[in-house]
Amino acid sequence: MRITFFATKSYDKDSFHKIKKNYPELELEYWETELSPKTASYVTDSEAVCAFVSSDVGAEVLKVLSERGVKLVLMRCAGFNNVDLDAATKYGIKVMRVPGYSPEAVAEHAMALAMAVNRHLHKAYIRVRENNYSLQGLVGVNFYGKVAGIIGTGKIGAAMARICHGYGMKVIAYDMYQNPDLDFVEYVELDELLGKSDLISLHCPLMDSTYHMINLETINKMKDGVILINTSRGGLVKTDDLISGIREHKFFGVGLDVYEEETKNVFENHEDEILMHSTTARLLSFPNVIVTSHQGFFTEEALGAISEITMNNAAAFVKGETSGTELN
Ligand code: NAI
Repeated sequence: MRITFFATKSYDKDSFHKIKKNYPELELEYWETELSPKTASYVTDSEAVCAFVSSDVGAEVLKVLSERGVKLVLMRCAGFNNVDLDAATKYGIKVMRVPGYSPEAVAEHAMALAMAVNRHLHKAYIRVRENNYSLQGLVGVNFYGKVAGIIGTGKIGAAMARICHGYGMKVIAYDMYQNPDLDFVEYVELDELLGKSDLISLHCPLMDSTYHMINLETINKMKDGVILINTSRGGLVKTDDLISGIREHKFFGVGLDVYEEETKNVFENHEDEILMHSTTARLLSFPNVIVTSHQGFFTEEALGAISEITMNNAAAFVKGETSGTELN
């Protein structure tokens, strides 16, 4: 089976290339272009396409892909809020994903963001490079003894809970399902979590029910001086309300690996830089905000696991077997 990869970067090629020899039944074709209704129409002789978190896998794209003979969409990521599953089913396209390739990769990045905004590493780095060794304005807080509030204790939230526990924090969490592996975590209602936490980290998926769960109302319920981290999906946070909260000095710091407009066409691609034009960019004007470019997953271990699980998914599809990662 031939698979056309969209939005391929050199690191994708490298990690898939390393294991390609184990899958002689699969032929890989790498395209740098992102998936869209127009680029979908260029697919020929491929029964499968491989897409990413940034790809448009909406109804229009799926319709075009089905007309091009595509039967399988392989998401090389965990989240699938950008896929119209009803449309995929309607057009007879199976969608598979990589549910838990390396939860620790994302959780460690969440803690890196939390530590960086807490200890002002982004400012300290620049300051010392300019030969300024002043500590003025760089005071942080100890995480030891503070309260970490984890929203969503699935694979990544559980890994983050363990990290916070290791820092000596009291860990509280909100989820509809209690994770039986986390006996050190106290589950509370969302309002209680918002009111008690010194560090809040979001780890639930983006769904209709979680869209804009962090808004003016929930921000007002948070402690003053809270640190907010989002490595999950941008749509969990209402950006305009976050900006209002930051302006009112609600937050000690905010660390975002994901932002609302990520999947919209707000990026201008150049050879060596990708520029963003959006309201999200306004967040960067605040000194206590750190934004990274959706890189939580980006470790060698995670890339290796993503390519292996994606190839196993494709191989299972070829054999007519299930892999347990099907979304429809
Ligand atoms: P998971 O499915 O293992 O866990 C999600 C948890 O959220 C579940 O326990 C679920 O019960 C809970 N949940 C659902 N609705 C909730 C609500 N309203 N309030 C509180 N909890 C709720 O997912 P996993 O693997 O932990 O991933 C979490 C999210 O992380 C993904 O949906 C994805 O958006 C994001 N992610 C980000 C990456 C990055 O590079 N920044 C990479 C991979 C995933």
